[in-house]
Amino acid sequence: MSSFWSAWIIVIALGNIFACYWLVRWTTKKRPGEAAQGDVTGHAWDGLQEFNNPLPRWWLWLFYITIVFSLVYLVLFPGLGTFKGYLGWTSQGSQYGAEMDNAAKTFDPIFKKYAAMPIEQVASDADAHGMGQRMFLSYCALCHGSDGKGAKGFPNLADADWLYGGTPDQIKQSIMMGRQGAMPPHPALAGDDLDKVANYVASLSGRTEGVDAAKAEAGKAMYPTLDCVACHGADGKGNQAMGAPNLTDTTWLYGSSLDTIKETISKGRNGKMPAHADFLGADKVHLLAAYVYSLSKK
Ligand code: HEC
Ligand code: HEC
Repeated sequence: MSSFWSAWIIVIALGNIFACYWLVRWTTKKRPGEAAQGDVTGHAWDGLQEFNNPLPRWWLWLFYITIVFSLVYLVLFPGLGTFKGYLGWTSQGSQYGAEMDNAAKTFDPIFKKYAAMPIEQVASDADAHGMGQRMFLSYCALCHGSDGKGAKGFPNLADADWLYGGTPDQIKQSIMMGRQGAMPPHPALAGDDLDKVANYVASLSGRTEGVDAAKAEAGKAMYPTLDCVACHGADGKGNQAMGAPNLTDTTWLYGSSLDTIKETISKGRNGKMPAHADFLGADKVHLLAAYVYSLSKK
């Protein structure tokens, strides 16, 4: 804060306190021409008359006490611009910092203990499961659901189907570094051609309902000539190295209807899993990875 703004705040804060003091003095002073104490002032409304009675003493003193209190407070605690107050209290150091230190003292050894164990072993530890679940509910449930079963665009973590791989290391990598799905849009693929490719993709999982067999057949002939093979493979089984989903199974990230498949192909998709390494740190992510691993093993 520049010294100008500091002075600005000091002037406003002290000025207001002084103004309060002045207001109390001014309203309690007798002015010439005023009705004597105890007399009617002449103001009347609806049969009610106003008498000139002073404020009760105790009431007046309450005003003075609040004024003294605010001055004492501003001497002891920060409030006057950059002046830190004689007690040296800060919200960051004294309160937040102390609570964080306390929490770290209690929980750090526990996180450290689990961090030294392999994820498979942590996954079968009941206490670790409870801690992992609580963290999952605060940090991950928003996107993946409280049961980890996901939603459209947010993968189900409780099944055995993985975009980026389900080994303990791969799961930990997904959480630490985040993931960025990159399905490119295909504006050139439209109309009948898009319809054929979409029907072929839908047929890959063995589906016949709602699938036009002739179009699927035509789409099958087109597929190897398209860029799809680079990511989803010639057999459509996907590629975990780039998070390209397996198109031959019945698990869908964005949906299996022909319209959704067409939308995915023509407009592309960019699912983003945020990185948590800086935010949570490796030890907490280790516990979370174990929790996610255990979900998929049920
Ligand atoms: C802002 C939403 C969001 C949050 C918060 C989030 N995720 Fe994700 N996560 C995603 C999305 C979206 C994907 C899929 C990325 C893609 O489409 O390529 C994903 C992917 C993953 C994957 C890879 C799944 C696979 O099939 O390979 C794992 C594991 C995962 N998340 C775990 C977690 C955990 C644990 C947390 C909590 C620390 C978490 N996520 C928090 C959105 C989120
Ligand atoms: C550069 C690599 C790449 C190319 C090329 C590519 N895809 Fe994809 N595709 C992906 C990725 C990655 C995803 C997952 C996107 C996400 O996680 O948000 C995806 C998602 C999809 C999905 C959604 C699957 C689901 O479970 O909902 C379909 C369908 C699909 N692609 C079909 C195709 C077809 C058809 C082509 C060719 C016309 C194609 N893709 C070309 C990488 C690619």
